[in-house]
Amino acid sequence: MVKNAKIKVTKNGPYIVAGGIPLLRMVIESDSYGDPLRWRIVQRYPLRENYSLCRCGKSKNRPYCDGAHIKQRFNGNETANNELYLKNVKEYIGPELKLTDKPELCVGAAFCVRDAGIWNLTVNSDMPGFKEMAIEEAANCPSGRLVVWDSEGKPIETDYEFSIVISEHEDGSPGPLWVRGGIEIESSDGSIYEKRNRVTLCNCGVSRNKPLCDASHFDK
Ligand code: FES
Repeated sequence: MVKNAKIKVTKNGPYIVAGGIPLLRMVIESDSYGDPLRWRIVQRYPLRENYSLCRCGKSKNRPYCDGAHIKQRFNGNETANNELYLKNVKEYIGPELKLTDKPELCVGAAFCVRDAGIWNLTVNSDMPGFKEMAIEEAANCPSGRLVVWDSEGKPIETDYEFSIVISEHEDGSPGPLWVRGGIEIESSDGSIYEKRNRVTLCNCGVSRNKPLCDASHFDK
């Protein structure tokens, strides 16, 4: 954990990153059926104490902001309701796991569809290998839409490297910023979003749930 690390969402502008948060680029690799299988690191950016990341999607120096948002008159209005994750989640109960699911957080990474799909894997989690597969699929879900819980009611979370990831699909198409490890995210109005192990932020400018990604990048 890096001390005093924070991501500040600026009004109609970039994300200001403070506290020396490592920045990586990672790509989703698929299995032989074309289903997302794992994340692979393809680049580590030079470590900087402070930097600004493009939020409007128009920078020619991505992932960094180059001021293009001003010319573009970017409307970065934050419309995410900042409701706690556990409010209004769907629950799927299995013999060895519970799954909580908040579909509006989906960013289309699609790790959850492999094999029987995480919902079936959970409700049949006493079948050989199902529990392990469900845990793996949830851990790869970048937005934290999907969380699996053990039989004692504890979330099963990966101990990620404290970092921001520029995510990409295997075909080179861009995904959201994957914020890992419980980094504080402050709204342009000074309020703090729920601190979570996995969060995805819009970096293309078209999400209808800013600053969070809502998979609208697929519609661009
Ligand atoms: S937010 Fe500044 S160029 Fe995109």
